[in-house]
Amino acid sequence: MGDRLAGKITIITGAGSGIGRASALRFASEGATVIVNDVNSSGAEETVKLVVKAARAGSGPAVAHPADVTDPKQVDELVARATRDYGRLDVMFNNAGGAQPESTVEMTVEKYRSILALNLDGVFYGTQAALRVMLPRKSGCILMTTSGAGLGAVHHLAAYGMAKAGVINLGKSVAAEYGPRGIRSNVISPGPMGSPGFMSWLDTIEGGLERFEAEVPVRRLGTPEDIASTAVFLASDEASFVSGIVVPVDGGISSQYPTPQFDLPDV
Ligand SMILES: NC(=O)c1ccc[n+]([C@@H]2O[C@H](COP(=O)([O-])OP(=O)(O)OC[C@H]3O[C@@H](n4cnc5c(N)ncnc54)[C@H](O)[C@@H]3O)[C@@H](O)[C@H]2O)c1
Repeated sequence: MGDRLAGKITIITGAGSGIGRASALRFASEGATVIVNDVNSSGAEETVKLVVKAARAGSGPAVAHPADVTDPKQVDELVARATRDYGRLDVMFNNAGGAQPESTVEMTVEKYRSILALNLDGVFYGTQAALRVMLPRKSGCILMTTSGAGLGAVHHLAAYGMAKAGVINLGKSVAAEYGPRGIRSNVISPGPMGSPGFMSWLDTIEGGLERFEAEVPVRRLGTPEDIASTAVFLASDEASFVSGIVVPVDGGISSQYPTPQFDLPDV
């Protein structure tokens, strides 16, 4: 626990589970006030309970605000709450997202649109709504979650990858366009995490866990806390000169040229 985010009013979307929940806990433990968003209200309430349980004097409070990030009106209301209740918004972490793998040729148009709605449109709505309240104060930090599937191709994740690649461009565009007006914008790219959404998919693949771990240079899956730590840094004033970047937090998996990799015998 510390005070790296002391007093920062923060919204985290998709914080009823996984990376968003871990980030809510870490942000609060660093002194931020966290508005915990999720479309799943019981997940959001549970995160708030966990924050309260972990709280000690000096750590920030948390409140739940269920909303669907694919609905711009609900997103506007989510952001309006920060200014109404706390007078400002310092950090907007557009984290909600996810998709199950599905072959490109078989995907229905409805499914395709729903994947883009959650993983791209929702991030745009959150960013736009946050900018509207941050710009008058000439101060604000926007974070977004992309994915390895947005950095390069992953089988059966084409629509998700398109959306996540779009998020990378949005993050850079906002940094370039609004940097002169006090806004920083950065994108975090998690590698394979042991979070509930990913693990439920991995469980459907024989030897999935072992195969993933074997491809990661540090030889383990990431944890939601790995992402949360990076988000804390990017949201803090320590990162005041960091803007417009994509930070892979992936144990090195995206650093490898995609050729078969062989270990040399131990000496
Ligand atoms: N887990 C991984 O391995 C991994 C890898 C790369 C990127 N990511 C990205 O990280 C982010 C968080 O993923 P996670 O692994 O924590 O997943 P998760 O499934 O554990 O959590 C995602 C949360 O988003 C919420 N959500 C879904 N639709 C929503 C909506 N319309 N409005 C508001 N909330 C909504 C869900 O209810 C859930 O609580 C996502 O953007 C995901 O694409 C995850």
